Amino acid sequence: QKQDDFALMEQVTRFFQHQLKHHKNSTNAIEYLKQRGLSGEIVKQWEIGYAPAEWDAVLSKFGTSSERVQQLLELKLITQNDNGKRYDFFRDRIMFPIRDRRGRVVGFGGRVLTDGGPKYLNSPETRIFHKGHELFGFYQAKNKLRQLDYVMVVEGYMDVVALSQFEINNATAALGTATTPEHLSLLMRSTSTIVCCYDGDRAGRDAAWRALENALPVLKDGVSMKFLFLPDGEDPDTMVRSVGKEALETLIQQAKPLSHFFFESMLKQHQVGTPEGKLALKTAVKPLIEKVLGDNQRALLEEELAKHTGEYDRFRLQQDIRLAQSKS
Ligand code: GTP
Ligand code: MN
Ligand code: MN
Ligand code: MN
Ligand code: MN
Repeated sequence: QKQDDFALMEQVTRFFQHQLKHHKNSTNAIEYLKQRGLSGEIVKQWEIGYAPAEWDAVLSKFGTSSERVQQLLELKLITQNDNGKRYDFFRDRIMFPIRDRRGRVVGFGGRVLTDGGPKYLNSPETRIFHKGHELFGFYQAKNKLRQLDYVMVVEGYMDVVALSQFEINNATAALGTATTPEHLSLLMRSTSTIVCCYDGDRAGRDAAWRALENALPVLKDGVSMKFLFLPDGEDPDTMVRSVGKEALETLIQQAKPLSHFFFESMLKQHQVGTPEGKLALKTAVKPLIEKVLGDNQRALLEEELAKHTGEYDRFRLQQDIRLAQSKS
């Protein structure tokens, strides 16, 4: 059954690619991709396609038997309304196939060509698609690079694709903004450095903090996590286009280590100029440190906390944390 699902997803990927090239109304889509600065080569490399505006392009092409129609429904390539009317899930969108780490197409992301409607539509969860542990571009990165010195985690499909056009081939995107512990565990099996580079906007900064929180319980010693914050209004796509590959790579080298970002954020919320502030900082930070998986990582954060609270009584602090851990 699943093998058959993957085969169908592959065929649908080809179908969308074919539509981009040959559909009579695909000129807007082609124009759009050009206007986004994507080369024909990169479009081909990422197997970017076009879902036509019709209600039944996929349905009529692939729904050749009742079993097939059922499968299309289960893979969420088509949907059904309350009256039992069936229609294509993706219509008039630029299509990005999402491959799992074994290279099988498990879902799609679709972008509108114009403003209006949700900007991106992702395949809903299915028996082969679990958003929480898929990373767009991860399979391609692993394929392209024998060794992943570091992996960049970005927000969007377009970020991954644009970076690869500038020969930065180690970027992946979580689908939606949250980077889950599953994503991080998956990444840690292939690299020892994870660089989160979200958009330079409120949502991006919040996503960075969430990624940090999600990382604490899975971050092993020997793996480092860093954060690159882009100027307001930029994302990796716009950034690489404006500053180029080298300048961006320099910024990546200078990305903030997790501990810096961690205390920078915490010190914004708790002013340590007073004993009360120090206590508040400690109260806020301790439960987070307790979650850290790696002993060395945890010790490092404990030490930093001790510095900021003016208590060099690190061993006492460690004892407290061990105690709390053994209770939980
Ligand atoms: P472009 O406008 O094509 O450059 O996309 P972007 O990736 O820069 O989008 P943005 O920064 O606005 O959003 C970041 C990510 O959030 C996107 O890549 C999507 O994965 C997701 N996202 C944005 N808008 C929507 C939406 O309307 N629905 C859903 N489900 N996800 C969205
Ligand atoms: Mn899965
Ligand atoms: Mn954004
Ligand atoms: Mn963008
Ligand atoms: Mn963006």
